[in-house]
Amino acid sequence: MERDEILSRLRKIDILPTFPAVVGEVISVIEDPMSSAADLAKNMDPSIASEVLRIANTAYFGTRSFRKITSIEHAIAIVGLEQISQIILHMPFLSMMRGEDDTDKERFVKHSMICGILSKVVSRTIHTGDEHAVYIGGLMHDIGIIVIYRYFPDEWKMIKKLASEEDIARTSAEEEVLSCDHGMIGACLLSMWNIPQSITEAVMYHHRPQLAKEYVWNTKVVDVGNRFAKKIDLSDNFESFDEFINNNKEFVGMVESAGVEVSLSQELDLFEGSYGMLRNAKGLLGSVGEKTND
Ligand SMILES: [Fe+2]
Ligand SMILES: [Fe+2]
Repeated sequence: MERDEILSRLRKIDILPTFPAVVGEVISVIEDPMSSAADLAKNMDPSIASEVLRIANTAYFGTRSFRKITSIEHAIAIVGLEQISQIILHMPFLSMMRGEDDTDKERFVKHSMICGILSKVVSRTIHTGDEHAVYIGGLMHDIGIIVIYRYFPDEWKMIKKLASEEDIARTSAEEEVLSCDHGMIGACLLSMWNIPQSITEAVMYHHRPQLAKEYVWNTKVVDVGNRFAKKIDLSDNFESFDEFINNNKEFVGMVESAGVEVSLSQELDLFEGSYGMLRNAKGLLGSVGEKTND
């Protein structure tokens, strides 16, 4: 199946989720440090706003407390713009996965968020790629997997069968069945949503970074973020920084495999940055997709 054919099939699917205006708003807020919480709150759909408030309250005050955070501006002031953005950017995933198994949903959201975080830390530390673009690209890199699952069900079954029968990687089975992998499918969806190429190219080639043309470093960084995200288990104890370094020594080698040399001080920055952000995310992620009684 060629890219044009995939695009035309995607266009024909009338239930394909439209890009929520608020996600576009989040992307511009992340890219423009001068914009404010008020800008973000302005376009927010009430159902998204209430979900964001639910997650922010649960993450910070636990399920039993009364609602302490009452507005998006308030949530951003207390929880932080970056964390609120992480929640909002997951809304398209969560709505597309409605009704699916909670464990799969949780695993997917965690992997996506960890990839976004690690891509950003790598970009910031080794001064390569655009840290905002790779953060969003990392968060959305596997969205094509959901698209195949939801909208190409026959192909999904064939891919699963082929991968297990021939014991090949999922991406190779995707190539055989669809003539492209989930990176390409995800990038097609994101371009239909007018996401900039600095992000879509990294999504498109996150399993084949050598094919990137315009945004080579963004793509390489998201590839590293993805590979390392697979090794991170948020259920691990994040109490000790030394333990975190010990368990994740291979991180530096992965970054260097992209073709950069990592100095000793950058090595420390890589671990400090990822440890701090992953610890924060661990608190927040417990609430994403969690069931509540209200
Ligand atoms: Fe992937
Ligand atoms: Fe991935």
